[in-house]
Amino acid sequence: MPQIQLTGIQKRFTVYERPEGKWPLLRGAFIRHARQVQALDSVSFSVEEGEMVGYIGPNGAGKSTTVKIMSGILTPDAGKCVIMGRVPWRQRVDHVSRIGVVFGQRSQLWWDVPVNDSFDLLRDIYDIRPASYAVRRDELCAALDLGGLLKTPARQLSLGQRMRCELAAALLHSPRILFLDEPTIGLDSVSKLALRAFLKEENQKSGVTVLLTTHDMDDIQALCRRVMVIGRGRLLYDGGLAVMLECYAAREGQDIDEIIAEMYRDMELGEE
Ligand SMILES: Nc1ncnc2c1ncn2[C@@H]1O[C@H](COP(=O)(O)OP(=O)(O)O)[C@@H](O)[C@H]1O
Ligand SMILES: [Mg+2]
Repeated sequence: MPQIQLTGIQKRFTVYERPEGKWPLLRGAFIRHARQVQALDSVSFSVEEGEMVGYIGPNGAGKSTTVKIMSGILTPDAGKCVIMGRVPWRQRVDHVSRIGVVFGQRSQLWWDVPVNDSFDLLRDIYDIRPASYAVRRDELCAALDLGGLLKTPARQLSLGQRMRCELAAALLHSPRILFLDEPTIGLDSVSKLALRAFLKEENQKSGVTVLLTTHDMDDIQALCRRVMVIGRGRLLYDGGLAVMLECYAAREGQDIDEIIAEMYRDMELGEE
């Protein structure tokens, strides 16, 4: 049984658009145009314990929606999702005690309190035994070089520093799976390299499964042998990175959007 199994996951959102023309705000109070967005259209995949999988696709493809479903934040409209024998949105409390999640664009640290206090709060939330907490915290602080940051409130950290703290926060309770949604977004290259080195080592040492969404092909090349490509809610490719690059990326340094455009052309789906 795979550690993560999604079968035919569907998720649709209703978005309300402002009417066009004169006085859109005022008219918007009376007229609302509802539009359905199929964020996920029958997404199926499975991931084995210890894998590091890259989940890539253009903006709006459905990556974050998938991560939110797998973390129990969102409920799909249809389909099955079983992770370590549990359904994330039904057994949410048990589920979150065994996964770690980092959203690159949102913080899980308390903004105004020193990082160390945020860690202590997470210890209480996850009910981590004090002895194992101390060991784990020190281990993560050493690996992510957080020593000098622990007394600083999150809001005073640089993005790179904050991301290192976010990773530690997500791993304090030693989860078996780590979901990372665009963890390197906006980071300078030194921070990116540090993050990648840490993730690689953590995966090798603890065997934690890592599912990573990114816009950065270098993240994928540094970390993942397997990639899943999503476009407009559908899984377009699931397989080896090397094979994908052989088929779709003729040029050095081709970015993810170009690879996906080429996949669309190949499937004759046309451009957006
Ligand atoms: N809460 C929401 N309400 C309405 N539409 C949403 C919501 N979340 C996501 N969407 C839409 O669903 C699609 C997929 O979004 P998302 O999963 O965030 O994509 P990605 O992370 O790949 O950029 C997009 O069209 C987005 O606008
Ligand atoms: Mg996203």
